[in-house]
Amino acid sequence: MKVLPLVYLLPLALAEDFRPLYHFCPEENWMNEPNGLIKIDSTWHLFYQHNPTANVWGNLNWGHATSNDLVHWTHEPLAITSGGGVEAFTGTAYFDGNNTSGLGTAQNPPYLAWYTGYITANETQDQRLAYSVDKGGTWTKFAGNPIISAAQEAPHDETGGLESRDPKVFFHEPSGKWVMVLAHGGQDKLTFWTSSDTKRWTWVSDLTSDQIPGLPSGVQAWEVPDMFQLPIEGTSDTTWVLIITPAEGSPAGGNGVIALTGSFDGTEFTADPVDPATLWLDHGRDFDGVMSWENVPASDGRRILAGIANSYGESPPTTTWKGMLTFPRTLTLRQTGPGNSLQFLQQPVQELAGVSGSLIATIQNQTITPGDTLLSSAQGIALDIQLAFSIDANAILSLAVRKAADEQTVIQYDSSNGTLSVDRTAAGDTSFDPGAGGVHTAPLQPDASGVVRIRALVDTCSVEVFGGQGEVVISDLIFPSESSEGLALTVEGGSAMLRSVEVHAISLSG
Ligand code: FRU
Repeated sequence: MKVLPLVYLLPLALAEDFRPLYHFCPEENWMNEPNGLIKIDSTWHLFYQHNPTANVWGNLNWGHATSNDLVHWTHEPLAITSGGGVEAFTGTAYFDGNNTSGLGTAQNPPYLAWYTGYITANETQDQRLAYSVDKGGTWTKFAGNPIISAAQEAPHDETGGLESRDPKVFFHEPSGKWVMVLAHGGQDKLTFWTSSDTKRWTWVSDLTSDQIPGLPSGVQAWEVPDMFQLPIEGTSDTTWVLIITPAEGSPAGGNGVIALTGSFDGTEFTADPVDPATLWLDHGRDFDGVMSWENVPASDGRRILAGIANSYGESPPTTTWKGMLTFPRTLTLRQTGPGNSLQFLQQPVQELAGVSGSLIATIQNQTITPGDTLLSSAQGIALDIQLAFSIDANAILSLAVRKAADEQTVIQYDSSNGTLSVDRTAAGDTSFDPGAGGVHTAPLQPDASGVVRIRALVDTCSVEVFGGQGEVVISDLIFPSESSEGLALTVEGGSAMLRSVEVHAISLSG
């Protein structure tokens, strides 16, 4: 037998099985979307749909991981387990500070988690409650489950309660009531329920697609709601935000994520008119099942989102794990132009700076013209790349990442039509799914001083590209060879003035 020198083995160990270097994925086997995101003291808790016994969807439990910085994650034991013929589907968590549930004590109020019970024998779905009296470490299923039975759901669900799921629950201060938002699989509707004790629930309203002015008709089959209040930057106002993952109608195909603004009186959500151009939080293929961390202290004040990157089911070419958490991103809201039009902005959480190590390439105030290739001496598979440039009217600036002779993922700004795109045509293995290649495009205009900003997070099997101040994002999985680690910055059709380019290597070991 030939013994390989250690130097050959090391790179394999680093990027084994496309395992991301700074994104969360399960230690082994399947995950789909995050569940019950909550911060408790200084710990960020991540629960997620997890099959601990196979690398496929099924046997769903709440997996659990904890972090002090949203970047380094510690795998924890399962939090809410499947058992007794009931799987634990998606849901949310909230602090019951006044112990209204009675499941803790006044001195030690409980943390609560609501999840959907999937009863495998008859394929019905009901809503269930679990609680933790040790700050999220362990969870106990409420003895009176289900808290909403399939029979109680039936009058409000086209399938008679088969498909009611994904409870988002929060405490609504003005009405002094708990509110639950439920999705109804395959249907274009959410239902709202209220409770005084978190255990007994009353239906109070429906939100259907015809109540959302301007919503394109193809935005269908809503799942995984999230709902919270968000400040409007530069004002003292807040607005309600409702986030939904429709299974159909997204710009890149597959599941996508829409964000609505509106008002909420404790029973009914009244949606503001929708602008189809700013409706989708992401224009890539791999960002859905999104929810936000609750219980973030006011001194921090951020609303931080994460979703699942994997819209191809079991197909991606990873063998020991499947499904990756998108890098946590902040969500803010700014007022744009005349009138009250609002725009969401997203940015990677600043904690990324803590693992952004060496500056491996930098360019300041340099013009790039057709025929130039910049950044070709830099390389890496885990990178934070930031570009700010102005560009001729019909020029196209292209940044190739994860590049080798015959592979590259191309992030491009086309000045002729004001678009940002990610081209996975030659990204690597795209054979596993018809939706795994192609080009995803989003509109992006230069800022008021004519500068275009692009930030690209590159990891072992992903790119997440933030345009402008975060008004557009394109997130896609890629499966290049491990040795495809080159970069290239080029321009065609005119030149660009590179005000600033910075390429940071990301390392969690430093
Ligand atoms: C969304 C979803 C949820 C459900 C969960 C089951 O991807 O279908 O509606 O609760 O996955 O894993």
